[in-house]
Amino acid sequence: MQIKLQKNYLNYKNGVLYYKDINCLDLVTKFGNPLKVGYVDIIREKITSLKAYFEKAISKYSYQGKYIFANANKASYYSENVITAGTYADMYETSSYIDLKIVERIIKNKIVDNKKIICNGIKDKLYVDQIIKMINKGYDILFVIDNKSELNILLDTKFNRKVEIGFRLNLPNLYAKSNDLGFDRFGLKEKELIDCLKKYKKNENLVFTTLHFHQRGSLYNQEKCFENIEKAYQLYSKIVKDEPNLVNFDFGGGTPYDKINEFDYEKYADDIIKLLKGLGKKYNISDPNIIQENGRYTVSDSCFNIYKVETVKNSHDDKPWYVINGSIMTSLVNTWALKERFLFLPINLANNKLIKVRIAGDTCDGDDVYFYQNSEKYCIMPEIKKGETLYIGVFGCGAYQEILSGIGGIHHCLNPEENDLIIYKKNGKNVFYKIRGSQNEKAIFKRLNYLKVKEMKRFKIKK
Ligand SMILES: Cc1ncc(COP(=O)(O)O)c(C=O)c1O
Repeated sequence: MQIKLQKNYLNYKNGVLYYKDINCLDLVTKFGNPLKVGYVDIIREKITSLKAYFEKAISKYSYQGKYIFANANKASYYSENVITAGTYADMYETSSYIDLKIVERIIKNKIVDNKKIICNGIKDKLYVDQIIKMINKGYDILFVIDNKSELNILLDTKFNRKVEIGFRLNLPNLYAKSNDLGFDRFGLKEKELIDCLKKYKKNENLVFTTLHFHQRGSLYNQEKCFENIEKAYQLYSKIVKDEPNLVNFDFGGGTPYDKINEFDYEKYADDIIKLLKGLGKKYNISDPNIIQENGRYTVSDSCFNIYKVETVKNSHDDKPWYVINGSIMTSLVNTWALKERFLFLPINLANNKLIKVRIAGDTCDGDDVYFYQNSEKYCIMPEIKKGETLYIGVFGCGAYQEILSGIGGIHHCLNPEENDLIIYKKNGKNVFYKIRGSQNEKAIFKRLNYLKVKEMKRFKIKK
């Protein structure tokens, strides 16, 4: 039995786990536990490396279009992540009013250089009004039209300048399960999209530059992915002949991310460019620019959580429960909601005898466990000898977890949130910035209206 270290930013020295050059055991002793750690600099590495792989492939295949990396903010809204990603990405992609207001605030205050903002999602009035306001103020916005009503609003709007638009194509779900419908609610069906193309020119300020589709899902199946790309490409090639401004083929999200193993992004970029070059020849059109809106890819590796094993309990077989001082269900929502795997590793004692265990959170919920997400139905962890304390780290949890569990709210069994630490680089050195301690009783009482006795008395019932 052995611990498998599948991510190249992780490494053991004398039984202690290091995330890059950071001793993870030191983090818990200095900053407390449970602990959530955001390591910001890896976002820079992820963005620059993917861009470099695509550029290499573009040059290898003499591809005529550009590769454009947009950051899909929705995967993590922490300011340090959105600012870092914006610094290295070519564009931002937003999906709501507040998301767009965040980007406006960052750009207006010159925290990140001005850049194009792709406005995506199904848009309510607040969001549409904000997009129009920012277009008229001169922000560089690409409005991706999801449905006919959005187009109608744009047709009725007076703009003081040209406005870049895209249309989102609805494609079948790549990874539909047997109980899925096989389609989702986003974008326009091909026929609707063709209808929209006949209409948009009624507002002469609208300039159609981008065909958008979305590769949903975190699993990666090259065959299915390529099938979807070709479907969208076929439509692109059909309409581009009558659309002189159409130059962008926007993949949306869905860039692969493997939670457990490293993924070969160099090969992935090579495969994509090779495919598109071939499609260009097949359909006899010039190579479009490629836009990817990367969320999960950008931020997943930037966050890890560390917990202490609080209790070891016997179970019905030979695999004991390791109960941690936090909730897997609350902090890693995808473990139970989507049955996704995460990388659980010992932070210390890795040279002890290894045993098979099942990990459980400290809420009273039967689903607050981690084992069934693994095909093996257990995790390998060190045996804990008398007097020893084991810490467990969970890696790759930087995307879509706190937007589901919420930050600063009320959680299962009223368990407090983790201490929150950010590590960022200044002049090449790591800076450790603890932004939040674990939630205290007062914060929880306040949120639930137990802080002021007067407020509680409101609900007192005289029997
Ligand atoms: C339109 C669009 N773009 C980008 C993304 C980000 O996807 P991912 O996190 O897989 O990169 C999403 C995710 O839902 C999306 O809906």
